[in-house]
Amino acid sequence: MNIDELKSVARAIVAAQKGILAADESGPTIKKRFDSIKLECSEENRRRYREILFTTVGAERYLGGVILYDETLRQSSAEGIPFAELLTRRGIIPGIKVDGGAKPLALHPGEKITEGLDGLRERLQEYAQLGAKFAKWRGVIEIDATDIPSSYGIRANAHALARYAALCQEAGIVPIVEPEVLMDGAHDLARCEAVSSQVLQAVFDELAAHGVALEGMLLKPNMVIAGMNSPQQAGTREVAEATMRCLKQHVPPAVPGIVFLSGGQSAEDATHHLSAMNQLGPFPWQVSFSYGRALQAPVLESWKGLEQNVAEAQKIFLRRCELNSLACAGKYNSGMESGAI
Ligand code: 13P
Repeated sequence: MNIDELKSVARAIVAAQKGILAADESGPTIKKRFDSIKLECSEENRRRYREILFTTVGAERYLGGVILYDETLRQSSAEGIPFAELLTRRGIIPGIKVDGGAKPLALHPGEKITEGLDGLRERLQEYAQLGAKFAKWRGVIEIDATDIPSSYGIRANAHALARYAALCQEAGIVPIVEPEVLMDGAHDLARCEAVSSQVLQAVFDELAAHGVALEGMLLKPNMVIAGMNSPQQAGTREVAEATMRCLKQHVPPAVPGIVFLSGGQSAEDATHHLSAMNQLGPFPWQVSFSYGRALQAPVLESWKGLEQNVAEAQKIFLRRCELNSLACAGKYNSGMESGAI
């Protein structure tokens, strides 16, 4: 493991108010997204859609990295430039989702465990050859008001995340460690904070036990937020304060960056929360974004699979990237949604 190399990649991804575009939807997930705009989920449509995102001029000012899916890492632009190379040429670091998705955790109804460790060492070697410099593994933590997650469910996911992270570093790839406490449910913010706290504690315990170098990784957590069906939705400042309180307690300063997932929040909420958190800084780590839906939903809606909409869709994408970059400095306000900066 070349720790200096890992460190410099991890830092570059979150340098200068940059964040990550998560464009690593698996086959079934991208189909769901395309269904929402009534677009056929063909390989060419998936390629074209990713090409629209990756060729948006100016996005390199706001994006330090893009997470790809296996199929996407093997695809190329219309001119035949492999996507990993196209991004690298533009100064954006390509990464790869390597988990095999979350499956039901045996004997623990309602909980999940992420698969994909078998053969991961070999897959990482191939991904490194294809140009990936970092990877992502998502652990899914289901949550209810009382019993879920169990301490075993948390431990099992934390253990898998740490095994993945160690394999990545061995292969010279920066691991993004993503323990996601879901937003689904009617639990309140305090419950999300308590569970997120247990999860982060377990994750950093396991990372230490596996010998993972914290300087050469990024953490991708959920924000501390009330469940989508909770009658008590917290305000922006409350979310920001609870999230930062939780992270400060559990994330060692050696970690170079925290890159949040958006998890089903609206694009505006995700940007607003990120900005409010950065207003509470400074922090020992960069506090940035690794959004999927919060960057892409407005783009998909505008594109609708039609070539004549590409320029407008790219304009919208660039603007979302820019607003989230401003949020990394705590400089976003909702008035910017309509007007010029
Ligand atoms: P969302 O921002 O849509 O939650 O996606 C981020 C991600 O990569 C989930 O694994």
